Amino acid sequence: MSEQKKLSNVNNLAGTIEVPGDKSISHRAVMFGSLANGKTVITNFLMGADCLSTVDCFRKMGVSIDIQEGTVTVEGKGYDGLVEPSSILDVGNSGTTTRLMMGILAGSSFHSCIIGDESIAKRPMARVTKPLRLMGAKIDGRENGQFTPLAIRGGELHGIKYESPVASAQVKSAILLAGLKTNQEETTVIEPHKSRDHTERMLRAFGVEVKEDEISATVKGGQSLTATNIFVPGDISSAAFFLVAGAIVPNSEIILKNVGINPTRTGILDVLKMMGASIEIIPHKEDAFEPIADIVIKTSSLKGTTISGDLIPKLIDEIPVIALLATQAEGETIIKDASELKVKETNRIDTVVGELSKIGATIKGTDDGMIITGKTKLVGNATVSSHGDHRIGMMLAVASCITQDAITLYDAKAIEVSYPNFFDHLALLSK
Ligand code: S3P
Repeated sequence: MSEQKKLSNVNNLAGTIEVPGDKSISHRAVMFGSLANGKTVITNFLMGADCLSTVDCFRKMGVSIDIQEGTVTVEGKGYDGLVEPSSILDVGNSGTTTRLMMGILAGSSFHSCIIGDESIAKRPMARVTKPLRLMGAKIDGRENGQFTPLAIRGGELHGIKYESPVASAQVKSAILLAGLKTNQEETTVIEPHKSRDHTERMLRAFGVEVKEDEISATVKGGQSLTATNIFVPGDISSAAFFLVAGAIVPNSEIILKNVGINPTRTGILDVLKMMGASIEIIPHKEDAFEPIADIVIKTSSLKGTTISGDLIPKLIDEIPVIALLATQAEGETIIKDASELKVKETNRIDTVVGELSKIGATIKGTDDGMIITGKTKLVGNATVSSHGDHRIGMMLAVASCITQDAITLYDAKAIEVSYPNFFDHLALLSK
């Protein structure tokens, strides 16, 4: 991951792009297709490194998965059709693969091992190991199952009612997927704030009954999944980089087509509106299970805001690029209640504050977020790094559009995790 790129400012950004498929939905489509009975065809699948790790893991468990130019065909043989992998399941950089797969493996009839890269080895797994053990799962791993490598001996599970201390879709999904393997028992997850609900929506598309209220989701064990076809909407977390770019680069207008606007993910749109951005959202007719829109963003005059509470889970992955946006807003932007940033692909409080400071931002880290004071001229003439974190890399590439001098970005390759054609899109829009 040591590729470096020299990036210079642009006069303006204009044109239309379609960002790649949603990462969260692409992972789930492969996983649920693998657990279903029959053939699932997934279109607009994200061919990023993370989702390809998921494909690789399920192939190792005997699932036939064919990939042709953005279309993935999964031949599922049912939840019990998975077979014991003869080698270690390598999740690469992907937290979603790790945690959701732990839930699936806990109720399997075999033994398996999970390993990932250096970043995965630092990410907390106890948040999943603990509730799964309460369900009867046999999981071991480094520091008593807190970190990868993990070893799972699948077996019988029973239902639980679990109050999760964190609003995490990965934790919720792991428990619900394990819950499907219980003998007709109910499994409920209650969260402090609602996390993204792609699992609940997609399980329904696969014929599973899921009960939901404001902050909880419940499944009954013993239900099987029936194959279906899935169209993956564009990833709003990828669109976020060009939404911010369009707002902060002078004389710009960008049209983003087919962006997923699931309300549990649209915090970035709320923030852009709160800060006074010139943004138009044109919803499509409701898609089968996830809403989609075209979005138009123009250069905007911005003001600072406060981002906290139940807005945080709706934009947790967008905070790095929101911090950049805030450097171009008049006044103070306060981001709080976001200590989850510390356990993402990097400690994103440290990496955002460290890298943006290098190019002249007025930003300071706090225990649960950051405070940014704008509007600041970003200077450039610096060497910055993604630290192997795709979203830090893309945030810095967007920053380079407005820095006075060029910047050198280390570890630019990390961007392939979620947006393999990011630099092609940036070049296409740059004038
Ligand atoms: C994801 C959930 C979020 C998010 C991650 C993807 C998912 O993590 O940050 O990028 O696909 O379920 P948490 O569940 O840890 O909040």
